[in-house]
Parts: sequence; structure tokens; C-alpha cells
Amino acid sequence: MMNNKTGIYIHIPFCIKKCNYCDFFSVTQYELEDEYFQKLLMEIETRADYTKNIKTIYFGGGTPSSVRPEYIRKIVLKLKEKFNLSNLEEMSIEVNPGTCNNSNIQEYWDMGFNRLSIGVQTFNEDMLKKLGRIHNKSDIYKTIDIARQIGFTNISIDLMYGLPEDNLERLCSDLDLAMDLNLQHISTYGLIIEPETKFHEDFKLGLLKLPNEELLLEMREIINIKVADFDFSRYEIANYAKSGFESKHNLIYWNNNDYYGFGVNSTSKIENIRFMNEPDLNNYINSNEFDKHNLEELTDEMQIEEGVFLGLRLMDGIDLKDFFNRYNIDIKKKYKNAIDELLDIKAIILNDKVLKLTNYGIEISNYCMAKFLS
Ligand SMILES: C[S@@+](CC[C@H](N)C(=O)[O-])C[C@H]1O[C@@H](n2cnc3c(N)ncnc32)[C@H](O)[C@@H]1O
Ligand code: SF4
Repeated sequence: MMNNKTGIYIHIPFCIKKCNYCDFFSVTQYELEDEYFQKLLMEIETRADYTKNIKTIYFGGGTPSSVRPEYIRKIVLKLKEKFNLSNLEEMSIEVNPGTCNNSNIQEYWDMGFNRLSIGVQTFNEDMLKKLGRIHNKSDIYKTIDIARQIGFTNISIDLMYGLPEDNLERLCSDLDLAMDLNLQHISTYGLIIEPETKFHEDFKLGLLKLPNEELLLEMREIINIKVADFDFSRYEIANYAKSGFESKHNLIYWNNNDYYGFGVNSTSKIENIRFMNEPDLNNYINSNEFDKHNLEELTDEMQIEEGVFLGLRLMDGIDLKDFFNRYNIDIKKKYKNAIDELLDIKAIILNDKVLKLTNYGIEISNYCMAKFLS
């Protein structure tokens, strides 16, 4: 079950302010920046393997664009020294429009980043405030203008929907503005009320007026229709790209390939071993070891199950021949019961070549995927 497409994820756990909905691992203690990056460099030094041929690198967070670019540069240089990057195809960095200027974007370009993922969320000023974002609408335009002038031709934005007091008019306006920008990639996320967020507190107090299921369904339909008119293809449940601009890094995850996660709380999966790094920032910085938490040896059975449910996230679905070559099993036989049931309710399509979700299947994707778990 070996594969040779490996990605690297680097976690930058700093944000200027915590957004009201977000439970990603991040802190506002920039006084720890220096110690954190020293430890991160040491981690890469210790764990790197030059025999690995790296296809993608992704700096995520947190807010990578909120730390001094020289720290990002040091990490990039360390990766260049310690891994074989001769076949690197994509190097992305997540940026928040409230932290972007000519100087840091130019530095990312000079370091070799060729893709920007911008946390836009919405163009609506009131909603940006409600979400607790640090940026406004003009920051979004400024960031995209700067990036283009510098030379970036692969720009992605994150948009959110299903927000408090949300409506179709707001979503349509966001989609129109996004389409006017003629970008290459869009990720759309329906709001999830995560524990230990400001929105969760508000929700418990009955202060959040959230859209009902019917409206959410309409929102997802509108997204699909609007972006399709502008040559975006939906290639994953929440992701749309112009041809050739699908996220190569995220495809590594969805194709169940290998990835290194460096930094606090990151996950790595290398061959049949998966583990998490130390989840506490102070422990990560202060420990002399790089302990592997929740280490799992993935059995063939686990790899197959994960191959199925990750593959079903992709609109192209699972190529049955590739799947057989990689895992040595016939999906049709192994999952006969699940497949029969999902075919009956028209949630999947199965032919000689592929197994994939139908539009209805996408709507009930969690239910469908659970059917393939033992
Ligand atoms: C880890 S964040 C990184 C982006 C960057 N820090 C920023 O916000 O500008 C990735 C994306 O996840 C989405 N996201 C975060 N929390 C979410 C939630 N509770 N529900 C839905 N989407 C969420 C947002 O669209 C966000 O841009
Ligand atoms: S959404 Fe992005 S900027 Fe906001 S808290 Fe989460 S990681 Fe930080």
C-alpha cells in the first residue's frame, strides 16, 4: 500500500484575534513566536527524510500571514535542505486579508509559494463584524490586487454560508462578487457551531438565529449553479476549481496519500503509521522530544475504509481499477450490502469504472460514508 505522493503541512498557530466561529488550533500569544519557530525548525531537522519525494507543501493555521515572513522563510529553507523538493508542484500559504501587504506577499512569492488561499469568508461588512473577522471588504480587494501584481496566478478564497441571520441575498451577492474576481479556486464552508467558540456560547443562550435545513439546501444549490456558470467545477464536496487548479495538497489527503504534519497539534500519516504531534503549545515548545500522540498502526482494513470514504468526497468518485491495484480488493464484493442499500435510495452511482455519490448522495454524504465503516 505504498504510494509516492507525499505532502507536507506546516502549522502556524498564531492569530491576531480568535474569530467567533473558529476552533482551529490557534493562540494570540505572539510573544511565543520565536521559541515556536525554533522548535519547528528542530522538528523538521529531526523528522525529515530526504528519500521522500515531496509533491506539495501547505502552510496553514492559524494565520501564517500574521507572523514575521522571516520565520516562514527559515522553515522553507529548512524544508529545501531536508527533503527532496525537485518534484514539488505546489506550495500554498493561507493568508488573512487583514494581515496582507505588498511586502509579505512579495516575500512569499520570492520564497517560492505559487498558491495563496485567502480567508475571505464574506464580502459583507456587517457579516464580517458578526464573524469577528479582523478584515473588511477593501482588505480583500487589496490583497488580491497585490497578489496578482506580484505574479500569483493560483488564488483560492474561502467563503462561508449558513451564518447567523443569513439569507440568499447575502450569499448571492458574495458569489457575484467572488465570480467578478475571476479567481482559480473557491472553498465553501457551511458554518459549524463548534464547542468552545463564541458562537457556541451565543447559541446556548439562544442568541444565534441560524438558517434551517431547507435554506441551507437552497444555499448549496445556489452555490453549485452560480459557480458552474463561471467555469468552476465542483471536484470535492466543498471545493470548486477552474480546470487544472484543483488543490494538489488537499487531493493528497482525499486520495489517502502520505503527509507530514509539522508543528503543534499537526497530524502525520506516513505509510501505515498515523500520529498527532503534541497538542499543547507550551509542551510542544518546552519538551525535548517530539512525542507521537494517538499513534495508530493502520491495518489494511483501516486503509481500505479510509480510501473509500475519502474517495467518495471527490466528485470523480473512486476509480475501481485503481482501487483494486492499490488495495487488492474488489469494492463491489466487499461492500455489497452498503452499495445495494445506497443504490436503492439513489445515493450512489456504480458502473464498471467508478463508484461515486449522486447529487442526492452528496446531500446525505455523512450517512453514505458511515455505511462503509465497519
Ligand atoms: C483554518 S482556517 C484558515 C484561514 C485563515 N486563518 C483565515 O481565517 O483567514 C480555514 C477555513 O476554515 C473555515 N472555517 C473555520 N471554522 C469554521 C467553522 N466553524 N465552520 C465552517 N467553516 C469554518 C473558514 O472558511 C476558514 O477560512
Ligand atoms: S478562522 Fe482563521 S483567522 Fe479566524 S481564528 Fe480561525 S484560524 Fe484564526
